[in-house]
Amino acid sequence: MEVRVENGGSYEVGKSGWGQSLPVPSIQEIVRSEFQLVPQRYIHENKDGPIISEDLADSLEIPVIDFSFLAKGDEDEVQKLHLACKDWGFFQVINHGVKEEILEKMKAAVAAFFELPFQEKKKYAKAENEIEGYGQNFVVSEHQKLDWSDMIFLFTFPSQNRNFKFWPHSLPGFKEALEEYSREMQKLAEELQANFSVLMGLKRDGLKRLQGGELKQGIRMNYYPICSRPDLVLGISPHSDGTSFTLLLQDDDVTGLQIKHNEAWVPVKPIPNSLIVNIGDATEIQSNGMYKSIEHRAVTNEKKPRISIATFMFPDDEQEIGPVETMIDDQNRPKLYRNIKYVDYVREKFSRKMEGKAHTQFAKLRTSDH
Ligand code: OGA
Ligand code: NI
Repeated sequence: MEVRVENGGSYEVGKSGWGQSLPVPSIQEIVRSEFQLVPQRYIHENKDGPIISEDLADSLEIPVIDFSFLAKGDEDEVQKLHLACKDWGFFQVINHGVKEEILEKMKAAVAAFFELPFQEKKKYAKAENEIEGYGQNFVVSEHQKLDWSDMIFLFTFPSQNRNFKFWPHSLPGFKEALEEYSREMQKLAEELQANFSVLMGLKRDGLKRLQGGELKQGIRMNYYPICSRPDLVLGISPHSDGTSFTLLLQDDDVTGLQIKHNEAWVPVKPIPNSLIVNIGDATEIQSNGMYKSIEHRAVTNEKKPRISIATFMFPDDEQEIGPVETMIDDQNRPKLYRNIKYVDYVREKFSRKMEGKAHTQFAKLRTSDH
């Protein structure tokens, strides 16, 4: 299959059919050889400052959801979840039932991967027409600014989508840690999806049917090296996730994630052993804009590298995603998004750089359309 890109060229898509990204240097290697160097390609001239005072940031905390109450069907907790998705698009989940040991093993496996010599990591490098493997994604031009991070992205569910050639098999324990972790995330995601369904006026399995069966899963492991000028760079540019929703595991002691809330960048302070959940574009579309796929970014620091593990849950490629009937009301909540095949949405997403909410705009109906 051939995909046309903005500059008039075209390319053959790889196995996943999702898109491609240009090769970039490893920022971890650049920092290793010369800590003081901040190459021009990484300097974001127009990035928003924090726009928020430290005091305010301290008093603003994203909602915390107790998963054990949700799983029991506790009405108050379900209502809290509704408000979290509507007003924040982000929440932290505590008492999720995933053993601490599994989280720790996963973090250790990712840390060990990034500690491997570069030559070793390169064995799992992404192909240029693929998005799976070690490298970086969302690089579509030689001129765009780059982010201060390296990553490895792997498809994990359904298990037949696993491409083991990209899994770091030379690293003892990595495969086991990822298999176990991804299984736990899948279980958690199912329960969350059932809750989102009910909140959207559907049966517990409503979204599952509309997303084409079991949610699909891919895991993006991010490494943010230290930076001598964190004020000039971004660990990851502002973007929203093209998922149904994302489960993020981050370091307990390094803050880096920031979310856009009421036009300010609010840092998300990690709660040890919790997971962060954020609504993705597919849920924003299906909820007809009730639940928000919020822009977020990551910043870096001078002292400590940071690792994060983003588990992306997404619909089947062939499924058509659009506002669900129960969320449309011609008088009060007219349909705001068009229906679009999920794979077409993802291809559009991977054909651009990360750029705030530009991708959901693409699915929005213009006012003249209705
Ligand atoms: C992502 C992401 C944030 C972080 O990988 O999509 O938003 O804190 N990561 O690493
Ligand atoms: Ni993200």
